[in-house]
Parts: sequence; structure tokens; C-alpha cells
Amino acid sequence: MKSTTPQDTLGTIAREYQVLHEVARALQSSEETITMLKQVMKILIQFEELKVESKAGIFLADEEKKVLRLFTTVGSFTQEFLEREKEVPYGDCLCGRAAASGELLTSDSCFTDARHERTFTDMTAHGHYIIPLKSRERLVGVMFLYTSINPSWYKHSQEVLLSIGGLVGDAVVRLQNEEQIRTHRRALEQEVTERKQIEQELMKYRDQLEDQVEKRTEQLRDLSNRLQTIREEEKARIAREVHDELGQSLTALKLDLAWVERRLHEPEEAVREKIKSLYDLIESTIERVQIISAELRPRILDVLGVCEALRWQTGEFQERTGIMCELTIRPDALVLDPERSTTLFRIYQEALTNVARHAEASRIDVRCEQFSDRVELEVIDNGQGIDEKKVSDSHSLGLAGMRERALVWGGDVHIAGQPDRGTRLFVRIPTAST
Ligand SMILES: Nc1ncnc2c1ncn2[C@@H]1O[C@H](COP(=O)(O)OP(=O)(O)O)[C@@H](O)[C@H]1O
Ligand SMILES: [Mg+2]
Repeated sequence: MKSTTPQDTLGTIAREYQVLHEVARALQSSEETITMLKQVMKILIQFEELKVESKAGIFLADEEKKVLRLFTTVGSFTQEFLEREKEVPYGDCLCGRAAASGELLTSDSCFTDARHERTFTDMTAHGHYIIPLKSRERLVGVMFLYTSINPSWYKHSQEVLLSIGGLVGDAVVRLQNEEQIRTHRRALEQEVTERKQIEQELMKYRDQLEDQVEKRTEQLRDLSNRLQTIREEEKARIAREVHDELGQSLTALKLDLAWVERRLHEPEEAVREKIKSLYDLIESTIERVQIISAELRPRILDVLGVCEALRWQTGEFQERTGIMCELTIRPDALVLDPERSTTLFRIYQEALTNVARHAEASRIDVRCEQFSDRVELEVIDNGQGIDEKKVSDSHSLGLAGMRERALVWGGDVHIAGQPDRGTRLFVRIPTAST
């Protein structure tokens, strides 16, 4: 290496420190690799002792493919140069050689140095500093500085430029890492945003489904109510027909039989017995007809109202099952519209049927009470107590029917049991406020 012998004056050393300091600052202060590297090259160009021209550039290394890629330059370069120097394989020309060896190179002249393999149309004579940029022995890139031909090489160039190469290499790696982290974070943020969108869409979909289910449920409830009403009307009609038509026919039959009996003078014993058994048959048929008609729909409900119907049903139940019944109605003259009366009465019937079928009770206490805005029905038995699971079981259709009937009026049904202590059924049906 040719070199003049400048005095290591204090001034020169101070300037070396100054350059190192400025480079270090440039490396710290910049967030963008390109601005940082341009800044470093400008600082070096201004370092007088190096005697470099204001023309320099930096390649970044692709270690896998073993090529250098031109990253940035300062000073004026021809378009041809920029095009052709885009990629330089390791080992090729001066920069490729510095990359392959990891050593700093100086070149006196592009025209005489055999290593300077690449030439360009308007190339003017120049020399070079070629500085490897390394981070922990790994090649990160190569920086090339232009000098005049056969320059007086700066004595400390080796040390100063190599340590600058190390600093720049570390800074490039740091920025590359930061960039990677930023990219990664952006990808994560993107993912989070996308997930949120998906979540929102799912929530929207769920809401729509819930709406649909709600609508469907409402439709089914309407349908069930309509069927219930139709059934109730049908039952009432059949009950009326059975009671009136059959009842009248049977009465007519009885009268006709009496007429026949009167016409017969001293009938034989066998005929008299036949007539007697006919009377008995007609009587028992009339009774059956009344029972069937009452079971379909007790006329008492339509004629005398819910209080009497409850009383009648309770008496009926006690007689049939032998279970002691205590019925309290408050106030005595409880008044309820026919539709709610039917609801209350049918729920009560189902409750009694359940006690008879499942409770093994010996006693029931019933309270029916009217308030200004509602009517309540409470049926308490002293049986074995309804099983918790049965209360919410979707197969408990009798209980579901009670709830549905009450729900028509915005009311509700609660049922709960205590093992061997009995079951309490509570029904609340809102009424128009009085
Ligand atoms: N008063 C009661 N005491 C004990 N268990 C009851 C009582 N009422 C209902 N249950 C239980 O609840 C179940 C569901 O009743 P329900 O829906 O009316 O259906 P079903 O009477 O047709 O069995 C019954 O099968 C029975 O096990
Ligand atoms: Mg039942």
C-alpha cells in the first residue's frame, strides 16, 4: 500500500475521532437504512485525510445467493453504471472480491488494476477504497469510495475504515432486525384486525340466527295458541251437542217408554222387567252423556264462571281419587274473562291430573286469588315431590302446555318439589288493571 507520510499530528487524530463520532451518531439517529447509509458516505467524503471524491456507494450482501446488490449511492453515476451494477456476484471485480475475502481493498486506478474487471463507456480514471461491512464476522455489504488515481493513501485508513465498516454492518443488521420486527408486528396487527372482523361477522350471524329463532318461536307459539283455541271451541261444540242432542233424544226415549208402559194393561212379568231395565239403561246413558260432556268442557265454566268450575272440579277430583282437597278462592266473587277462565281451568285440570298420576299425595291445598292486576293459582300437594330434572325436561309436555297457556297472557308457571314433602305449582296470569 502506497502512502505518503503525513505527520500523526494531534489535529489528524482529533479529526479521526470526530469522523468516528459523527458516523456513530448518524448510525444511531436514523431509522431508515437508506438515509443512514447516505449520511455515513457523506461524512466519509468530507473526511479530508481520505481524499475521496464525492462519489460513493453501498452494496448489500445476499449471503445465500452470494451476490451483492447495489443499495444506494451518493454523487453522480451514469444510468449504465447503475443498471449494470445492480447485482455483482461474490468474487467479481473489486467489490465482489472484497465481499469474498472480507478484506479491505485499495485500488490505484481502474485502468491499470487487473482486478477492476468491469468497465463502462464513459469511465474516467479513478482509484478506490472498497470496505467490507461486517457484523460479527458476517458480511452485510460492501461500501466503495472513489478517489483520484494513485492517491496518497491515508496511513490510518485500514483501521479507521474497517472499524467504520464494522459499525455500519452492525447498524444495518440492527435496522434489518427492526424492520423484520415491524413487518412481523404489522402482520400480527393485520391478523388481529382480521380476527376482529371475523368475530364481528360471527356475532352478526349469531344475532341474525337468534332473531330467526325468536321469530320462529313466536310463529310456533301463535300456531299453538290458535290450535288450542280451535280445540277448545271444538270441545265446547261437541260437549254442547252431546249434552243437548243426545240428552234430548234420551229424554224423548224415556217419555216414549212411559207412554208404552201406560198403554200396556197388566203386562207380563218379563215385559215389566224389560221396561225397568230399559229405564235403568236410559238413566245411566243420560249420566254417561253428562259426564262425557262435562269432561269435554264443563258447562259450569261458561254458565257460572271460573269459581264454580274450580269448586266443581275440586269436588269431582276428591270424590274420584279420595285425595283430601282444600280450596280457597279469594275474593269469593272472583271474576275473570272467559278466555283467561279457560286457561286457568285447564291448567288446574292438568295439575290435578299430575297429582293423581305422579304425586302419591293424600292431600292438596289450592289457592286461587285475584289481585288488581293478576290472578294467581297455587296447588300444593304433600306427595313425593317432583324431580328437579322433570321440571326442565323438554319431554314434560304437560308442564310445557301449562307454561304455554300462561304465556299467552304474559304470565308464568313455576313448579318445584321437595323430596317426600310434596310439590308446589304456582301460576300467575296478568289481567287488565282494575
Ligand atoms: N305433582 C307432581 N308430583 C310429582 N311428580 C310430578 C308432579 N307433576 C308432575 N310430575 C313429574 O313431572 C313429569 C312431567 O309432567 P307432565 O309434563 O305433566 O307429563 P306427564 O304427566 O304426561 O308425565 C311427570 O312425568 C312426573 O314425573
Ligand atoms: Mg301431566
